[in-house]
Amino acid sequence: MNERLIDHVDDYLAATFVGNDATLAHALERSQRAGLPAIAVSAVQGKLLHVLARAIGAKRILEVGTLGGYSAIWMGRAIAPHGRLITLEIDPRHAQVARENLDEAGLGEVVEVWIGSALDSLARMGESGTEPFDLVFIDADKENNPRYLKWALQFSHPGTMIVMDNVVRHGTILDDDSTDPDVAGTRTVLELLGSDPRLCASALQTVGHKGHDGLAIALVVQ
Ligand code: SAH
Ligand code: DHB
Ligand code: MG
Repeated sequence: MNERLIDHVDDYLAATFVGNDATLAHALERSQRAGLPAIAVSAVQGKLLHVLARAIGAKRILEVGTLGGYSAIWMGRAIAPHGRLITLEIDPRHAQVARENLDEAGLGEVVEVWIGSALDSLARMGESGTEPFDLVFIDADKENNPRYLKWALQFSHPGTMIVMDNVVRHGTILDDDSTDPDVAGTRTVLELLGSDPRLCASALQTVGHKGHDGLAIALVVQ
């Protein structure tokens, strides 16, 4: 496919559905200045997370993989001022940048950034008997996606939506002989999403500035 055309369409859609947003632009600038990788969701994908959160009336959101807080700003805006978003990040530098971006976005009271391995944080949450979440966005190390899905289900109620980023990775997921643990984790989690009777799920391929990838969306139905 013509990649220039895809990029132009991505720009056009972002201009149409997002437009100029100084807060988001500052968040990306601060992230770049601090040397964070440019792997946040795209503008239209962020807006999609925002639309989904509003569609289900989300009040409690869990994010696995914060980076500089770009997707957290999109989702936090959907639940402010009375909701709560907990986002999990292993890299203290990323978490620090996210904290600054979220404070600047006026979401200081809405978003908690937990530093540490997400599996440790999730186990801690499990021990303390956390309230269920209405939306879970899984976007960290792909190898652990099956484990993150398990925790997401544990912290869910019927009606909870689970969204997972990067489920296509330029089509590498087609290789069932792959030795890449991220590919194995993604293939396993896609099979779970497609077969777990508690879930009604689908996945879409995505294109744009972030390249060929995909997004899975699952609804907890029981
Ligand atoms: N959701 C973000 C992008 C996340 S990028 C956005 O769209 O704006 C993935 C993030 O997951 C990185 O910041 C990385 O440091 C973090 N991460 C990787 N492994 C992790 C782990 N085991 N536990 C918690 N965070 C992890
Ligand atoms: C990459 C992209 C992502 O959206 C992510 O969450 C992790 C890694 C990447 O392109 O490497
Ligand atoms: Mg991602």
